[in-house]
Amino acid sequence: MSWGTCKRPAPAGYGARMAEPLPSPPPHPLVAPLAGLLGVWVGAGHGGYPTIEPFDYTERVELTQAGKPFLAYSQRTRAAGSGAPLHVESGYLRVVGEAAAGVVPVELVVSQPSGIVEIHTGTFDGRELALRPVLVAGAPTAKAVTEVVRRFTLDGDLLRYTLEMAAVGQPLQWHLEAELRRTRA
Ligand code: HEM
Repeated sequence: MSWGTCKRPAPAGYGARMAEPLPSPPPHPLVAPLAGLLGVWVGAGHGGYPTIEPFDYTERVELTQAGKPFLAYSQRTRAAGSGAPLHVESGYLRVVGEAAAGVVPVELVVSQPSGIVEIHTGTFDGRELALRPVLVAGAPTAKAVTEVVRRFTLDGDLLRYTLEMAAVGQPLQWHLEAELRRTRA
């Protein structure tokens, strides 16, 4: 087991400890109101934009907790017909305060290999994850995306979302909608 290029010796037991599967600690108290979002979600979606052909896709989303005040989010999609890999993204849903009257303040950070990053602020009330973008930025060679509006609705083991974007010179409008079912809690 190497310790990268660092010349300091690795702490005793480092290699063995890091190779072990992570234990699943109890959820952080701030995360408890988000328990309904945890799990592996699988389903299908439909997308389009004025500049591209409409498309159908399948999707897998994983939302996990690790005893800290956030959920880790990872998503991948495939073309419905060919199974070719399409969009992937990952990020964190951060809980940024106590729930008040059942409404939890959250922030979402997401990064995409297309060079786009998003930061949203919003709330989760047990059903709606309502988000407003506070930052949408692109790497120098990324396609121009200036606004992204994501809306998620949780209904038991069903998670639906829509995504609108302002991109490549077009005003804010629909890009995606999908319906996912929880396959594993
Ligand atoms: C489920 C997630 C998504 C899927 C399946 C998806 C799929 C697609 C497909 C198939 C295209 C057309 C081919 C291409 O340019 O690659 C496309 C274009 C595009 N998508 Fe998405 N996308 C997703 C999420 C996003 C998100 C989150 C953003 C922005 C934050 C985004 C921004 C764009 C842009 C800017 C284009 C190019 C439009 C153009 O060049 O005219 N997409 N997407």
